[in-house]
Amino acid sequence: MIQVVIVRIADYSTEAQTVHSLTSTLPLPVQSKLGKISNPVNRTRSAIGELLSSWALSRFKGIKPGEAVISYGKNGKPFLESHPDIHFNISHSGEYVVCAVADHEVGIDVERVRAYNHRVAERFFSKAELADLEALEGENRLNYFFVLWTIKESYLKALGRGLTKSLSSFTVAGNGDGYYISENSETLNYSVKSLVLPGGYYLAVCIKGFSAEVLVNSITLSEISEHLSAGI
Ligand SMILES: CC(C)(COP(=O)(O)OP(=O)(O)OC[C@H]1O[C@@H](n2cnc3c(N)ncnc32)[C@H](O)[C@@H]1OP(=O)(O)O)[C@@H](O)C(=O)NCCC(=O)NCCS
Repeated sequence: MIQVVIVRIADYSTEAQTVHSLTSTLPLPVQSKLGKISNPVNRTRSAIGELLSSWALSRFKGIKPGEAVISYGKNGKPFLESHPDIHFNISHSGEYVVCAVADHEVGIDVERVRAYNHRVAERFFSKAELADLEALEGENRLNYFFVLWTIKESYLKALGRGLTKSLSSFTVAGNGDGYYISENSETLNYSVKSLVLPGGYYLAVCIKGFSAEVLVNSITLSEISEHLSAGI
């Protein structure tokens, strides 16, 4: 099962102070990573992702904020060195910060739907994905671009390989029931779910294994703050 937690923030600058005061509950390597982000909105957004994952790991896996030891893989994917059987991943775009927590390798991606350049699809999508996309028109094509983009990104994030793996080396396709990922005509042992979020966003979550029950939880920054402050 994947627990997906979603927080929607209308204005990051009004949350900066609350967020800043909570960052002392985060592991030191995480505080140090945040300290290196110079743009205040990016820093606040990134910090909310960290607080969200800290809350989710505590709520769903019983890992208290002080117990989590976070390390980073060679392409930057954060993981729990202290709890190798528990996996999480974070994504942020526009008003949303999201996090997935699971018992298997997991990746999550959220993107705001916006005008896209078709050359990006020609360059990064597989031939089969491009054909599926080009069979659609107008808004359906735009939406499907972001369905594919978020699923592809969530798979790369589950692998933790970032862009060291070519985006066109694997194919995402629908089967009427949902989406699956294949490579060289073989279906991969990863499950994906695609969700639409209010305000014009797509979210995709990808987990290793053939079944993925996804539970979606919306939470506010005040609830995160209450929970984490109690643990200080
Ligand atoms: C870093 C990357 C993993 C995702 O970047 P992104 O989509 O810009 O950012 P997201 O908001 O989804 O995710 C960022 C979070 O993922 C996590 N992360 C960082 N490196 C990661 C990796 N190698 N694997 C998985 N997760 C990673 C971190 O928690 C990071 O949060 P932070 O930036 O606050 O530290 C990387 O794959 C990338 O740069 N992708 C480029 C996007 C692209 O061209 N996509 C084309 C799709 S068709």
